[in-house]
Amino acid sequence: MHPVLKALGLNETESGTYLGNGEWSKTTDAGVIEPVSPTDGSVLAKVHASSQADYDLIVERAQQAFKVWRTTPAPRRGEAIRLCAEALRANKDALGSLVALEMGKSKPEGDGEVQEMIDIGEFAVGLSRQLYGLTMHSERPGHRMYEQWHPIGIVGIISAFNFPVAVWAWNSFIAAVCGDISIWKPSPKTPLSAIASMKICNAALKQAGFPDIFFLFNDAGSDLASSFVDDKRIPLISFTGSTKVGRMVGERVAQRMGRSLLELGGNNAIIVDKSADLKLAIPAIVFGAVGTAGQRCTTTRRLIVHESIHDDVLSKLITAYKQVEKKIGDPTDPANLMGPLNSRDAVEAYLDSIGKAKAAGGKVETGGAAIEGKGNFVLPTIITGLTNDTPIVQHETFAPILYVMKFSGLDEAIAMQNAVPQGLSSSIFTQDLKAAEAFLAASGSDCGIANVNIGTSGAEIGGAFGGEKETGGGRESGSDAWRAYMRRQTNTINYSDALPLAQGIKFDL
Ligand code: UN1
Repeated sequence: MHPVLKALGLNETESGTYLGNGEWSKTTDAGVIEPVSPTDGSVLAKVHASSQADYDLIVERAQQAFKVWRTTPAPRRGEAIRLCAEALRANKDALGSLVALEMGKSKPEGDGEVQEMIDIGEFAVGLSRQLYGLTMHSERPGHRMYEQWHPIGIVGIISAFNFPVAVWAWNSFIAAVCGDISIWKPSPKTPLSAIASMKICNAALKQAGFPDIFFLFNDAGSDLASSFVDDKRIPLISFTGSTKVGRMVGERVAQRMGRSLLELGGNNAIIVDKSADLKLAIPAIVFGAVGTAGQRCTTTRRLIVHESIHDDVLSKLITAYKQVEKKIGDPTDPANLMGPLNSRDAVEAYLDSIGKAKAAGGKVETGGAAIEGKGNFVLPTIITGLTNDTPIVQHETFAPILYVMKFSGLDEAIAMQNAVPQGLSSSIFTQDLKAAEAFLAASGSDCGIANVNIGTSGAEIGGAFGGEKETGGGRESGSDAWRAYMRRQTNTINYSDALPLAQGIKFDL
């Protein structure tokens, strides 16, 4: 067994179902998930998938748990999450290594992902005393109006392989301080990271006498996930994944009048203006395009460079990419900058996109091939010579492929940046105040995230995270994203002896 699994107390065979009451399901006949190391193709462990009966029991127990949790004072709920964050801090190195091992991102990025869990945990603790509603002035004498926020119920979390632990924490920790119970269905590619996270947090909760607030199931196919999406007992489904699946989830949840929070694809661009400080821009572009081997939803996929500096930027990037190539390898080795893609399918998609780009007239400036041998390693790739409206440039390929294009005027650059179906993240490198402000204005970037002089990826947890258009419109994490996990109630209280009606209506009996 891999030492990284041992360090977290994981076994060769694990149950993928946390049923509550300290119990992991004994189901063995609902299929087996075999997470594979993207580094060498070995099977890391066997995970028994959940059965329909497991799922039903989880939802039943989550409903019972909600009755208790919703009446627990919010600051006390914050205390529970404080303990989870502390436990994660104690296990940061081990869990970060597991994320690197199972997902394939570099060890520093795996640790960074666990740090995001800790950060959102600490944010949630503060938030537990700040779930503020507004008070309003009533138009009627002797009346008081205000709004309050109540827990919404059970939150269903469907997360993706690329952020196998942080996305759960963004959702479940905020949901928990809001008074909700969460049920998690992780990606079948990263069940071990999910099981380990649950074990760490649930042990911390149990030790302090807190009840169950987090449940987990793993689906061998897609039947349980499908019932999850259609389940009326789950008022909110938070889905992270592809636009294709997210569209289906959104439609089906809407059909039953549920709420969905969608974090879907991005096709993020950096504009490099003529005044850009390239000492900042080059490393930001490389981290944005190559970090997590191009498998972040915030990955930089398009570079829109002022024509006067295009050739200089391109040659500096190629030099930097050659440096990265020397540090591609086992992601659990902290010296490496880039690990493998997560799956063989992802390698196929990478090669397919490069083929399409070439067929459309694109020129591969560097990279463009898979690396021979074990594992799903590919070369980070830069392609020039395509226009922004080329179908493959419009498409999000979850791989380290960067399309570099030229512009001459800022309006043109902003128009190019916006002219894709997705709207997650964007950035501009410029030292020109007017250009920066034009990019951030209402007529500027149409994305949920717009940055100046930093890249498109690596958002801090304090802001609301999410995007527009085909990115799905959801917002998670910081700022007031907590509101999605609560129901708003408007209250009007009459403390007078009369019953005046609003809008001055007379209704005399
Ligand atoms: C994702 O890729 O699904 O901004 C989330 C970032 C990270 C989160 C990415 N903080 O790149």
